[in-house]
Amino acid sequence: MLRYGKVVELTLSLRRAVAVREAIADIRLIESTGVDRAAVDGIRDRLIALAADQDLFPRSDFPVPKNNIGGQLYLLSQDTDGRFALYVQAVAGANSTPAHNHTTWAAIVGLEGQELNRLYNGHAEKGKPEMESEYIVEHGTGIAFLPEDVHSIHIEDGSLNFHCYGLDLNALSERQYWSEDSDQWKYFKNKFDIIDARI
Ligand SMILES: [Fe+2]
Repeated sequence: MLRYGKVVELTLSLRRAVAVREAIADIRLIESTGVDRAAVDGIRDRLIALAADQDLFPRSDFPVPKNNIGGQLYLLSQDTDGRFALYVQAVAGANSTPAHNHTTWAAIVGLEGQELNRLYNGHAEKGKPEMESEYIVEHGTGIAFLPEDVHSIHIEDGSLNFHCYGLDLNALSERQYWSEDSDQWKYFKNKFDIIDARI
């Protein structure tokens, strides 16, 4: 016999899955018109709408392993061909990335906490990236990128965000980052440890 708590948990998981499915269906439609600034901003806005009901994405469902307070990715949705990958990124402490591109469109939308995004000019072929602006992603806001856009992420005290990409993060073998140590662009080599949270 199912206990009450278990039923509530199952209902939440189902409600979340339905909401995610509806959002991704809309995002597929938006992207079908082409990948330009208006489209990626539309994807961002659809994810902001998905994030509106924070109760669907409680932090307790996305724990951060003690040995990985810098961030844990949970997969919420992905097509069978790897396209339209939606993750929750849960961070418990501080985390930051070097300036990097994605080689596919990307959107980050806030659920809890603050994630500072620094935006850079130029592309990976053009030498050292120069920061142009900063934007804080938090609940009710988001940011979107074209494949060649360059940004870096800086989290000081934990956050819970959507990260959505045109393709499975671990399939983006051409992604590059600016290495401050060697003063050049390099390819990411590490694969992400992603927990599959789909039902
Ligand atoms: Fe990124």
